Amino acid sequence: MKEVLYGVEKVGRILTGHRPTGPRHLGHLVGTLNTWARLQDEYDCFFLVADLHVLTTDYTHPQRIRENILAVLLDWLGAGLDPERSTFVLQSAVPEHAELSVLLAMLVTVARAARNPTYKEQVRELGLSPSVGLLAYPVLQAADILVYKADAVPVGQDQLPHLEITREIARAFNRLYGTTFPEPQPILSAVPRLAGTDGRTMHTSYGNTIPLSADPEEIERKVLAMVTDPARVHPSDRGHPEVCLAFAYHHAFNAGAVAAVEERCRRGEIGCVPCKRGLAQVLAERLQPFRRAREEWQGREGELWELLHVGSRRARALARATLAEVRTKMGLVSWERRD
Ligand code: TRP
Ligand code: SF4
Repeated sequence: MKEVLYGVEKVGRILTGHRPTGPRHLGHLVGTLNTWARLQDEYDCFFLVADLHVLTTDYTHPQRIRENILAVLLDWLGAGLDPERSTFVLQSAVPEHAELSVLLAMLVTVARAARNPTYKEQVRELGLSPSVGLLAYPVLQAADILVYKADAVPVGQDQLPHLEITREIARAFNRLYGTTFPEPQPILSAVPRLAGTDGRTMHTSYGNTIPLSADPEEIERKVLAMVTDPARVHPSDRGHPEVCLAFAYHHAFNAGAVAAVEERCRRGEIGCVPCKRGLAQVLAERLQPFRRAREEWQGREGELWELLHVGSRRARALARATLAEVRTKMGLVSWERRD
């Protein structure tokens, strides 16, 4: 499928997104944002701010959502997602996401939705009786993707079960009502998942992340606190970078120097403190665009909302066309809509 958009030939369409749960961190950068920024050249990209999905678990803090939407937008801009070339969409501003979700929900058994590993994990963690909204999370996500007939979805590993449900729904719909949706392909980041600064799984609630907006002092403090090879006491002790967290970060962010770092560590030619200071410096440089985006957009909130509004309007035209087709195929009456 080739189409010409904004004067550039694209190989297909992408839809992907984040839930606006707060500022983005290094895990988001290596897991998704770097890939997304790169894919903009090849694909017609739709980047979704999934605010409805936030409500599946966090509907008791309405005051947080707006702030978090802006935080996510700033980090996306810092990562080089470009609203001129790509379409930024606010999920709740395009009601066709919710509408398609209701229609697609008819094709998913409760048993299938309950088998979703993310759902099971959240039910365990929340310790609450799960809502219908949480159970239907992947159906809404399928609607996000299918409403634009996306060909590919670049996501982190954790999202693969959701994408599998999306593909099943697309297949079921196509079988029942005739070919309508492409079966969207996942695109995974090549970089392995990064651990948090304390060595546990990276998670904002563990306080072990480095936010993309961190300043050089915060970066240095967090890097210096990372665990290294416990066998090293003196800088001249031979090190084992494979067990060192700072080395994993060198690997992810300091590709040009990683071989030299490894050699010097193994030979006992560098102390852990200077090694980590070097890493902190590389990270501070890498994160500079994110700090710059915050400075650049400081006090221009209205323009940020406008950017999302313009994108959502553009997206909605496409979403409406899909809904007209889906409604007809499912036997619903479609009066021409004037709104
Ligand atoms: N569930 C995704 C996450 O938590 C966010 C998301 C919502 C998404 N809709 C999507 C991702 C559609 C990809 C495609 O990160
Ligand atoms: Fe890790 Fe660097 Fe210390 Fe080696 S020298 S253990 S890579 S911090």
